[in-house]
Amino acid sequence: MQRSTILLVDDEPGLLDVCREALGEKGHFVLAAGNGREALSVLEHEKIDCVVCDLRMPEMGGMDLLRESKRRGIDAEFIFLTGYGCVSNAVECLQLGAVDYMLKPFGIEDLAVRVDKALGERRLRASPGDGLGLSTVMGLGQALRARSSFSGQLKEFLSQVRGTFAPDVMTFFFPSNDGRRPVTFRANALKNGILSWWGLVAERVLELGKPRLFDPKGLAAAARAGRDMPAAMPPMSLMIAPLVNGSERIGASVVIRLGEDNPYSMGDLQLLSFFCSHAAAVLDCTAKHRQIEDLNMGVITSLVRAVEAKDPYTCGHSERVAEYAVALGEAFGLSRHERELVRIAGLLHDIGKIGVPDSILNKPEGLTQDEYDIMQRHPAIGRDIISRVAVLDDVLPLIYHHHERMDGSGYPDRLMGDNIPLLSRIISVADGYEAMVSNRAYRNGLASRMAMETLLKGAGSQWDRRIVEVFGDLVTLGRVQAPVLA
Ligand SMILES: [Fe+2]
Repeated sequence: MQRSTILLVDDEPGLLDVCREALGEKGHFVLAAGNGREALSVLEHEKIDCVVCDLRMPEMGGMDLLRESKRRGIDAEFIFLTGYGCVSNAVECLQLGAVDYMLKPFGIEDLAVRVDKALGERRLRASPGDGLGLSTVMGLGQALRARSSFSGQLKEFLSQVRGTFAPDVMTFFFPSNDGRRPVTFRANALKNGILSWWGLVAERVLELGKPRLFDPKGLAAAARAGRDMPAAMPPMSLMIAPLVNGSERIGASVVIRLGEDNPYSMGDLQLLSFFCSHAAAVLDCTAKHRQIEDLNMGVITSLVRAVEAKDPYTCGHSERVAEYAVALGEAFGLSRHERELVRIAGLLHDIGKIGVPDSILNKPEGLTQDEYDIMQRHPAIGRDIISRVAVLDDVLPLIYHHHERMDGSGYPDRLMGDNIPLLSRIISVADGYEAMVSNRAYRNGLASRMAMETLLKGAGSQWDRRIVEVFGDLVTLGRVQAPVLA
């Protein structure tokens, strides 16, 4: 087999040495670079099949290397190596065209498997006359990445398999310990016994991680040999391919063509295998991304609880600010990403109050100037706390500027008008309304109508007039509601 050339890019010399040795032992020709800029120079002068690349490096990081390579028309597969906190960047890289990513630390065997998979798909695309393989695998990857949820991607995968292989019957089996029922298409063309028998075969295929092709003659021979098969097996050809990514067993895809004419071939099986391995990488990535999002949400919720524990009167304040801000975000047509940012910023906007003494936070009477100065530090303290969480980078400015005012009299930077980030202006309106309608240590909550009057009075000076007006519409329509006070 022709030797493939791999380019390793990382600023950790020790990691480069280990990977170079392991991939060299697998028969690959391996080159190395210490950052994106060095790698770009190698890519311009050598024919590289696969780049295994760190995301964060001095001078030029992995994402910029990928973008620049694409811009220069360099044709190489990209696999990214990334730390735990940078998974959303890795997902962005997949959207830019990388084929895979691995979380550090990783097993060296796993790296070899991922590289082989990337090279296999590359060979499939390069096969002369294999226009079908090229367009279908590429099209599948793009279609899957356009869906954000696991179930949406699985649905898209099944729809693409159906469109490509035109099966009479199709089933997707999950591992038996997963507890999910198989997803079927026209399965009533087969008797139940046959389907459950295929379920057992699919389980075996998943265990071994190897695809199988059964043609009508092979099935008939197996039936004659009395291999524990249902008696009334109609003539059919059938392919089973596993969706396995590393040690993750996602499921097995079974496609069946009834009759003896036009049976599936080994070429079909190879294409289905690539389909499945490609889909498995994307589905596994989505599942991991979701796990990390859940983990992040756990951290965020704990931080919110920590603030609320300091001031029982603010219980539920952050959640309601987040809810109002998201409603405003929808009304302003913000993207899904922006709505998520505004939700998280709404939850965390007052996180800096952790650093404000209780005696100031819970003081029932007015604050002295010194105390007010300390209170005004909470956006900066909040930004410092959140800056330790890499995935929340985009939320930092929203938290930092949530007390700016349109006329420039706010804090901490006395920004004016449109210089205040739009999402911070949204948080500010949501925060202002929620603070007025809920009880505080020093007063009872206002009626919604009175809170809206105050917002309108401050529109243009304290708050963004357009946002206040839209918020008023949401209140009138009942799309946002003040809390029920005790
Ligand atoms: Fe605040």
